[in-house]
Amino acid sequence: ERLPALLAAMPKAELHIHIEGSLEPELIFALARRNGVALPYAGVEDLRRAYAFTNLQSFLDIYYAGASVLLQSQDFYDMAWAYLERAAADQVRRAEIFFDPQTHTARGVAMETVIDGLSRACRDAKRIGVDAELILCFLRHLSEEEAFDTLEQALPFRDRFIGVGLDSSEVGHPPEKFARVFAKCRQQGLHLVAHAGEEGPPAYVWAALDVLKVERIDHGVQSAQDPALMKRLAQDRIPLTVCPLSNLKLCVFPDLAQHNIRQLLDAGLCATINSDDPAYFGGYMNANFLQTFAATGLDAQHAYRLARNSFEGSFAEASAKKRYV
Ligand code: HPA
Ligand code: ZN
Repeated sequence: ERLPALLAAMPKAELHIHIEGSLEPELIFALARRNGVALPYAGVEDLRRAYAFTNLQSFLDIYYAGASVLLQSQDFYDMAWAYLERAAADQVRRAEIFFDPQTHTARGVAMETVIDGLSRACRDAKRIGVDAELILCFLRHLSEEEAFDTLEQALPFRDRFIGVGLDSSEVGHPPEKFARVFAKCRQQGLHLVAHAGEEGPPAYVWAALDVLKVERIDHGVQSAQDPALMKRLAQDRIPLTVCPLSNLKLCVFPDLAQHNIRQLLDAGLCATINSDDPAYFGGYMNANFLQTFAATGLDAQHAYRLARNSFEGSFAEASAKKRYV
């Protein structure tokens, strides 16, 4: 009884949340109505029934369909605001939020519309005690050239996002494909992160570190297969933004009790717990903490370590990190 209360009440940072993955079915249908967008689902219940995933790709197909209702700046604002209120309730003090501009610009939505709505919500979140920043993700199933185009469209708004990431279909799209784009982002002074080792092999984690020169690895749970990589991650304090309920729902682990978060923490890695796509995977931050602790037997010391790791791994300034706790 005391551990769940500690997990719920402790201040934390969320470092792995795709804002399009926070779009709840109710809001998808409300925005569809508002924008006159037709959906291939009869209603909220029908859509929720489709949330039975077998791997990453089976999720991505539905996730991109859900995002098709986002057209106006206010739609992006409303989506981000709903997430930020949920985050505040879970004692998230700092949120570094991924967005997928290519999902929207491919439908004719302007980059400015996307960034304007999201960044206004992040600015307003200070009022509810959340320090929120944006990280632009390139879709790795698309080409290097499309990533360069996306970066060019976003650079006029350089002051409204703090970094770039790499997401979508992992296997078959290794980090090396984006070496030159990430080099350019690095020259711009942007923070760098990448999804690696969610379904893909340890080699993708090595490449994210050594070729893309990322500062954090998103997921990274497959690193446990490679002892030399585990040593590197521990020695360099490379944060892993682990997402237990996501891993469960996408069948990366057969059940939560077999999740390797405890192994990662006990090996001295800067592992963190995050929600990934909470509207699709059945839980926001505190649900991820509560269910993972219940299933794996993590204790209060692990809880403090996860909270500390989340602030250590964040891109907030040192002075701000002290205020969060
Ligand atoms: N992996 C890759 N791409 C994604 C994810 C994920 O977990 N969530 C949203 N886009
Ligand atoms: Zn993710």
